[in-house]
Amino acid sequence: MELFSIKITIFYFSGTGNTWWATEQLQQMLKEKKFEVEYFSAESKVVQDGNKVNELINQSDLVGFGYPIYGSDIPLVFMDFIKNLAPLKNKNAFVYTTMMLFSGDGALVARRQLRKKGFKVKQATNIRMPNNIRLPYPIFKHFPINNGAENDWVKKKKALPKIAKLVDRIVNNKRWIQGWDPANVALGLMQRMEMRFGKVYKYARNYSVDEETCTQCMQCVDNCPTENITFEDEIFSWGKNCLFCLRCYHFCPEDAVLFKKPTLDRKQYPRYKGPGDGFTLDKLKK
Ligand SMILES: Cc1cc2nc3c(=O)[nH]c(=O)nc-3n(C[C@H](O)[C@H](O)[C@H](O)COP(=O)(O)O)c2cc1C
Repeated sequence: MELFSIKITIFYFSGTGNTWWATEQLQQMLKEKKFEVEYFSAESKVVQDGNKVNELINQSDLVGFGYPIYGSDIPLVFMDFIKNLAPLKNKNAFVYTTMMLFSGDGALVARRQLRKKGFKVKQATNIRMPNNIRLPYPIFKHFPINNGAENDWVKKKKALPKIAKLVDRIVNNKRWIQGWDPANVALGLMQRMEMRFGKVYKYARNYSVDEETCTQCMQCVDNCPTENITFEDEIFSWGKNCLFCLRCYHFCPEDAVLFKKPTLDRKQYPRYKGPGDGFTLDKLKK
């Protein structure tokens, strides 16, 4: 197979940087295999503009889609992005997700939608990355949040080999679909019920700001992927377009964004500061 002429375009969404990190590694490894790769965040101008997306897809031989797993589900904003793509015929595609541990059939959620659009999804896989959810709920409050070098193990031993395997499958044009078996489909469906029918935005009611530490820097307002946070009459409010990505909560420079009162205890509820390796929030706009 002549690899020099193969063009890959990747679209991804990342709430707190993990999927950005996985995309960076993936595109680098693909370029080392001599593919021509371009990649765009769902928050980039190219994607926001809309018009160019279908043109980019038409010009590509292969299209990648990456997103974080939220309760075995896809972030709603990324699902809408896929739903708005123009229908086409037999375009090869791959899907990758990032997750803490278990994603059920979370990668297949995008696959099913992409197939309706005419994509042939040959690879769909889930990549383990650091956890970004620890909140005052019975199960969630026990999940570990690590930062810095504490995350090297999962990135090196779990994520990188998985990404390398995905690259291998792409290079060899081999089918690799994860999460299709009945157990993963059933557990995935159960997890998704809460995210879909429980209406994710209802969680946004739990956000507030610790006025003692907030400096009104507006980072939360400016960086929300759905422009869901407003500041009026000295009050921060979260609207109905919350994705539950937790970006506002984790990336407040003062850790002043709270999710229920117990998160005032920053030792008990440490914030996730992203995957490192050059990650900054402005990367998610490119
Ligand atoms: C609302 C929410 C739900 C999540 N649900 C799951 C899950 O079901 N399984 C899992 O393994 N990780 C879950 N996670 C962890 C994230 O998928 C994981 O940390 C991911 O790498 C974050 O990617 P990002 O930094 O690109 O947003 C969840 C995170 C959030 C915020």
